[in-house]
Amino acid sequence: MNQNISSRDDYEEHYTLSTTEPEKYWAQIAKSYDWKKEPQKIIQGDFNDLEIKWFEDGQLNITYNCLDRHLEKRGNKTAVMWEGNSPDDEHLSYTYNELHREVCRFANVLKDQGIKKWDRVVFYMSMVPELLTGVLACARIGAVHSVVFGGFSAQALAGRIQDCEAKLVVTNDEAYRGAKTIGLKEITDEALKSCTTVDKVLVRKRTHASHVNYDSTRDLDLLELLSQADDQCEPEWMNAEDPLFILYTSGSTGTPKGLLHTTGGYMVWAGQTFKNVFQMEEDDIYWCTADIGWITGHSYIAYGPLINGASSVIFEGIPTYPDAGRFWEIVEKYKITHFYTAPTAIRALQACDLKFVKDHDLSSLKVLGSVGEPINEEAWQWYHKEIGNEKCPIVDTWWQTETGGFMISPMAGITECIPSYATYPQPGILPQLVDNEGVQLEDKTAEGNLCITQPWPGMARTIWGNHERYRQTYFTTYPGKYFTGDGAKRDEKSRYRITGRVDDVMNISGHRIGTAEVEEAINEHPFVVESAVVGYPHDIKGQGIYAYINLNEGAEIELDKLKTEINEFIIKVIGPIAKPDQVQIVSGLPKTRSGKIMRRILRKVASKDVSNLGDISTLLNPEVVDEIKKGAGL
Ligand code: WTA
Repeated sequence: MNQNISSRDDYEEHYTLSTTEPEKYWAQIAKSYDWKKEPQKIIQGDFNDLEIKWFEDGQLNITYNCLDRHLEKRGNKTAVMWEGNSPDDEHLSYTYNELHREVCRFANVLKDQGIKKWDRVVFYMSMVPELLTGVLACARIGAVHSVVFGGFSAQALAGRIQDCEAKLVVTNDEAYRGAKTIGLKEITDEALKSCTTVDKVLVRKRTHASHVNYDSTRDLDLLELLSQADDQCEPEWMNAEDPLFILYTSGSTGTPKGLLHTTGGYMVWAGQTFKNVFQMEEDDIYWCTADIGWITGHSYIAYGPLINGASSVIFEGIPTYPDAGRFWEIVEKYKITHFYTAPTAIRALQACDLKFVKDHDLSSLKVLGSVGEPINEEAWQWYHKEIGNEKCPIVDTWWQTETGGFMISPMAGITECIPSYATYPQPGILPQLVDNEGVQLEDKTAEGNLCITQPWPGMARTIWGNHERYRQTYFTTYPGKYFTGDGAKRDEKSRYRITGRVDDVMNISGHRIGTAEVEEAINEHPFVVESAVVGYPHDIKGQGIYAYINLNEGAEIELDKLKTEINEFIIKVIGPIAKPDQVQIVSGLPKTRSGKIMRRILRKVASKDVSNLGDISTLLNPEVVDEIKKGAGL
């Protein structure tokens, strides 16, 4: 077997071997990576015992694979180029040699602060280079990183810090975000009032605003410490199943879950999937527009590209600042060959004057990618025609925080790309469609709930501190199978099309938000008795948030005032990304006789599709349905 997949036949060969003889396949694949001690035990555990281990007796350091092993051949090759929020910002660039030194410096700073193997470090930052080097520095010394997206609130940040009992937080004084600045340090200060485990805060000054407060006993100037730190740091040799990072994500119920990814399997998965799907050549330039605060940034800004020795751009800003041509300006400036973004960004830019695209030379592009939500056909066609000039394959990559890396996706130039289809599973992935009772849908063409039936190296091993919740969440709906929470269709050629979440998770501009979390925040408003939140189709965001709110009897409040106040609660509890797009006041929520909210009906009303509401006569309060329809103008 050829280690690289460079043809359709290679794909078939890899796929067949990976699913029929996984031990043999992965033992061979593991050889493409650098281990301190090569693994002999390849796969242990299954979806029943949930004691899943990959490459268990192997020892490695993932940053050795991201950095050290490239130094001989690629030491002077560009690893990362940094584009700031404003086109006028200083441009920074790091070769593999330089990035290696920066990571070592940061690792020494962490060590000086007493951070040791397995300690947790939380990052709450904008996309400055130190977010990348900081994450890698943790991995260098065996500390566990947990990045919290800079759009989350103090309360959300505090919840995550408390849950993983972080010892250290790294933040910015303020972040630039388009024309705005965000007071990350102030939010961190607020969060830390309720966190007892954090000893030190490293502040990477970005705006140098004079109004930011510093606590001299706790806060340290990161850039100053880095400038004094030694630039060599030996990697800590980790066992393959040692934790690498925790990343929090929303589910249908409860507080966000801290998914734990471990070292060896994740490295192999991030490395293989990046290589196979993007098919980059040595001189290509890759740019993923995500934020490192999401899994996409972990696997396909930080680890995947570096493991493969690629050159990438990282971008601090937003697609529309200073104008809607920014993405295309960056593509032109760096001669990007591989461009990876989210459908929501594509739709937002599609809605702008085409002049913003046409003003730029995009001829360097070879491969386009999409991630985060289903891409609608119209956006796909626009992306294909206007950005890819009809010559670039579009890899529509379906995967999740839980999966660590790509699960179903075309491989650029090797398997076909068709609108809205994630197409074929990656080697090692066995997808299965089941009906609501869990019965496998065996026909070639089918539509159902998407499960995975065999462990893969990059899967999250547990929910931090709560293995039982991990089991409950993913493995009990359809026993013995990993349930993704997504629905999918399969066509006659066995290609998969993801149709979206079938659980109570919304996908707002590619961000996962649980309905329960938003409801909890809304219910904090003193006038609110009860609320129900659902997603509905939204032209730009993919899904918008629609909130039905039942107020106390006698509560007198104007709708606009209520909306403003509700937003304040949401911004406080979660962050601005979870603000509802629509709010409707109702006198009751449709419920079953056992008191369960019938979200199906609410989803239909929010989508303005009430032609087939199903049987409502069994509801406890069928009369509210008409009222809700009327209230929605239907
Ligand atoms: C959705 C993001 C359709 C899906 C990597 C999944 C997609 C959730 C796609 C995970 C895609 C992601 N097509 N849907 N190409 N990619 N999704 O954890 O609903 O932030 O379950 O990971 O995003 O979101 P998460």
